[in-house]
Amino acid sequence: MTRWVSTAMALALASLLPSANPTLAATTLQMGHPTASNSHYGVASATLAEELARRSNGKFKLVITPNGAEREMVESAQIGTLDLLVTSTGPVGNFVPEVAIVDIPFLFKDYTHARAVLDGPVGQDMLKLFPDKGLVALAWGENGFRHITNSKHAINTPADAKGLKVRTMENQVHMTAFRQLGVLPTPMAFTEVFTALQQGTVDGQENPIPVITASKFAQVQKYLTLTGHVYSPALILMSKSTFDGLTPEEQQMFRDSAMVAAKAMREKVAAVEATGVAELRAAGMEVITDVDRSKFQEALQPAYAEYAKKFGKENIERIRDYA
Ligand code: PAF
Repeated sequence: MTRWVSTAMALALASLLPSANPTLAATTLQMGHPTASNSHYGVASATLAEELARRSNGKFKLVITPNGAEREMVESAQIGTLDLLVTSTGPVGNFVPEVAIVDIPFLFKDYTHARAVLDGPVGQDMLKLFPDKGLVALAWGENGFRHITNSKHAINTPADAKGLKVRTMENQVHMTAFRQLGVLPTPMAFTEVFTALQQGTVDGQENPIPVITASKFAQVQKYLTLTGHVYSPALILMSKSTFDGLTPEEQQMFRDSAMVAAKAMREKVAAVEATGVAELRAAGMEVITDVDRSKFQEALQPAYAEYAKKFGKENIERIRDYA
């Protein structure tokens, strides 16, 4: 019997049992996230677990597994072998293509802009696309603005990035941009990145400060350039088959709890953004802060023409100009 069948049976049984006895009715759900337990993903997952336990009087218990591969976790949720996960949008465009628009470089000005778009009509409409793909998107969380690290030399201008072999996510929008910059994008699961950097299989990687600190990349990367080249949103997703086994009240409880978890995730990102660069410098990284982002945007012009063809110029402008 698969674990999902046992979850479905537990949910069915739980609905027959008196709610006054939370021990008997307890339902254990499996949750995954892609980074270390002390990261922003760990915070989101732990907050969700606490909120659900509190609001359900202990009926829902989450077993949280860190360091999962994002694409595989999404697939597992689709087929019902994983109940819940937090993931960046990195692999999500492979499942819900419309969402990949948010991965366009330099689309969002800052955190305030990004959060407003995702919490506004554009972001909320995207969440409605997931059930057709076997998933329920409970809330937008946050990974953060991505920056480039490498072991070869300081990157001050787009030309400095040329020829570097940089690990990227399995994300076509990102890979198009890196190719345009003359970088050799090398997609691989995040679980393999530390070893690949250590062994020199790739020269660099790109991720937000909270990931770079939580993953201890200062041990294997010398240079960090604060390119902020793309905002990386996160999503709290649930298997639709698990969600459909809940009562309407429970479904609302999951949505409300996910909103609290997403808020905690954003707060953790903000907290690490405030201290992370100093921490990485102290750990020996050379940090390039004075980056002319307009030069990177100029270099990416042909990629923007491709994005306009793919997503529609007006849809991109609607996000870019959202106030
Ligand atoms: O680089 C990635 O794959 C993602 O940013 C990560 C670290 C898994 C967090 O979503």
